[in-house]
Amino acid sequence: MPTTVELDRDTAATQARYDRIAPFYDAMEWFTERSAFQDWRRELWSRVPAGRVLEVGVGTGKNMPHYPEGAHVTAIDLSDRMLEQARRRAPSLGLDVEMHRMDAQELLFEDDTFDAVIATFVFCSVPDPVQGLRELGRVTKSDGDIWLLEHVRINKPVIGPLMDTLNPVVVRMMGANINRQTVENVQRAGLRIVDVEHLSGELVKLIHARP
Ligand SMILES: C[S@@+](CC[C@H](N)C(=O)[O-])C[C@H]1O[C@@H](n2cnc3c(N)ncnc32)[C@H](O)[C@@H]1O
Repeated sequence: MPTTVELDRDTAATQARYDRIAPFYDAMEWFTERSAFQDWRRELWSRVPAGRVLEVGVGTGKNMPHYPEGAHVTAIDLSDRMLEQARRRAPSLGLDVEMHRMDAQELLFEDDTFDAVIATFVFCSVPDPVQGLRELGRVTKSDGDIWLLEHVRINKPVIGPLMDTLNPVVVRMMGANINRQTVENVQRAGLRIVDVEHLSGELVKLIHARP
């Protein structure tokens, strides 16, 4: 499968940021992972049945321990350095995962390929999230499911504008936008929202959508 297409400037900058932080990524996230993320990942994946599954933005492979038994999982990421970590993790868990460097905004899969498509903490980084989400809808089977775990902008006075102000600095340091309106972006992408669960007040959402 061809995995290289020319990247626009913003996407290349995102790739460079994640290539840069890949060696430290797991250490940087150690506390949040232990205190909350791993439980949310377990919860999300407990709802994904075995089948043909796509994980978008696999990162260092933190979801891998939760992959459903018997699933055929394909995983993609924009960053080769993040993928290197994921490629090391998979065999240590006894998993055989097909992995590709690929841009979520331009997936190189046929329409209606996957039973389930999952992304965790990815659409804060994708430069054009609506285009990326459209692509998720395109490659998901019409009766398939899309599951997203995402931190979002808190739409409240003071905190919302504060997140907007801090966002450019956080993007430059970490690659992630802290003020994305991902539930609204899912709707803008033409996906049908089945359910939105609030996992940490207004900050983190578990979104279930369908094409
Ligand atoms: C914050 S990390 C999350 C990694 C992993 N999903 C997790 O839960 O730990 C965001 C990941 O999304 C990837 N990413 C960002 N933009 C992307 C794009 N356009 N296409 C594919 N992957 C992308 C980054 O390279 C990075 O690995």
